[in-house]
Amino acid sequence: MDSFLIEGGVPLKGTIAVSGSKNAALPIIMAAIAVDDDVTFTNVPDLRDIKTTIKLLNILGREAALSGDTVLVRNGELGIEAPYDLVKTMRASVLCLGPLLARKGEAKVSLPGGCAIGARPVDQHLSALEKMGAKFELDHGYIHGVCPEGLKGAHIRFDFPTVGGTENILMAACLAQGETILENVAREPEIVDLANFLNACGARIEGQGTTVIRVQGVERLHGCSYAIMADRIEAGTFLVAAGVTGGELLLKNCPIDDMSAVVDKLRSAGMVIEETPEGVLARCGEQGLRGVDVNTRPHPGFPTDMQAQFMVLMCCAEGSSLMQENIFENRFMHVQELVRMGADIHVSGSSAMIRGGRKLTGAPVMSSDLRAGAALVLAGLAAEGETKVQRIYHVDRGYERLAEKLSAVGAKIRRVKEED
Ligand code: EPZ
Repeated sequence: MDSFLIEGGVPLKGTIAVSGSKNAALPIIMAAIAVDDDVTFTNVPDLRDIKTTIKLLNILGREAALSGDTVLVRNGELGIEAPYDLVKTMRASVLCLGPLLARKGEAKVSLPGGCAIGARPVDQHLSALEKMGAKFELDHGYIHGVCPEGLKGAHIRFDFPTVGGTENILMAACLAQGETILENVAREPEIVDLANFLNACGARIEGQGTTVIRVQGVERLHGCSYAIMADRIEAGTFLVAAGVTGGELLLKNCPIDDMSAVVDKLRSAGMVIEETPEGVLARCGEQGLRGVDVNTRPHPGFPTDMQAQFMVLMCCAEGSSLMQENIFENRFMHVQELVRMGADIHVSGSSAMIRGGRKLTGAPVMSSDLRAGAALVLAGLAAEGETKVQRIYHVDRGYERLAEKLSAVGAKIRRVKEED
């Protein structure tokens, strides 16, 4: 398993290009299952999870490959089964359920296990698809769904705005008979990107980005060429990197319009974030960093995927801050590792109290999940001395060429191979 070796204390200076969004690319490439044609995607990030999605499409009979930042998915005879060995490596594989039921009237998808940040059940996905006429059995760890008469439009209200649930049902509803109304849906920019892709293939979706989405089912979706939106979480991670190292970074392709909650909090914490014709410029203000409180919420609130990274900024700020994680039940796995680097953080239930103003010191630390790993890299960049971030396969899931991008702006970071 690889690690990152980081010598901290270097203010980062220079330009970083933000890659395509992992959390838009995964559902959008999966949506190719619903398209009865070849499809081309561009601005696709070269990530582990993208490779896993491509592997799943090939298993399902859709020849697909990544070349540079482009994925071409060929049309082909669809299978119906997503195997356990693949699904266990990527929970988002469950997103093939909706499009497979819509196109084939049947799907066998291994029930995704939990993961480090929580149980992550898929009950909302299943109950919504049942309202559209699907019937499910749990069979030897597989969700086996059938809808022999095809899916029918329905009026669905989610218990809470689930991102994956909204995506699965959106893909299913495009080919259902009649109208589907979805209420209390997720409003994340990645949902909007997915809906825009499906509409480019001939779907009839309205209201994406609001709390109610209406879909008129169509007979068939045709192919198209589609560019994936930029990654707002990768961009937010680099904005924090400028803050914790006391440097100045210019981000190209930064989707700042999708990042208001994060940018507002960064500015409240004392960072200067400026939109310029060349991109988004980020640096610490003259007053330095100060603690601010954060509650993670569904979009347009502060994203849970930025909680760990922002916590590192709070460790480097003067004063205290209270961070509440309201989306996942176990998303403070980075805290103990940060404490080993000298951070003063106390967790009580879903809250973490951070007392800043203490210098972080380098240490060997362990990634537990994608964003926790990214946070430990940020802490290593800020810390005095050497940090070894282990199990960075978690980080490789969501950050394209992270060490290369950071080295190019002055970071002393390199990947080391470890004997497994
Ligand atoms: C997506 O996960 C993202 N993943 C996550 O990003 C992100 O943290 C999450 O949305 C919230 O924004 C992708 O887009 C691939 P949810 P998803 O369904 O779809 C519970 C990252 O770091 N829930 O909105 O799984 C669930 O357990 C990853 O890039 C149910 O209880 O998120 C969780 O507590 C991590 N039943 C909460 O809702 C359900 O049927 C949010 O889940 C579905 C979800």
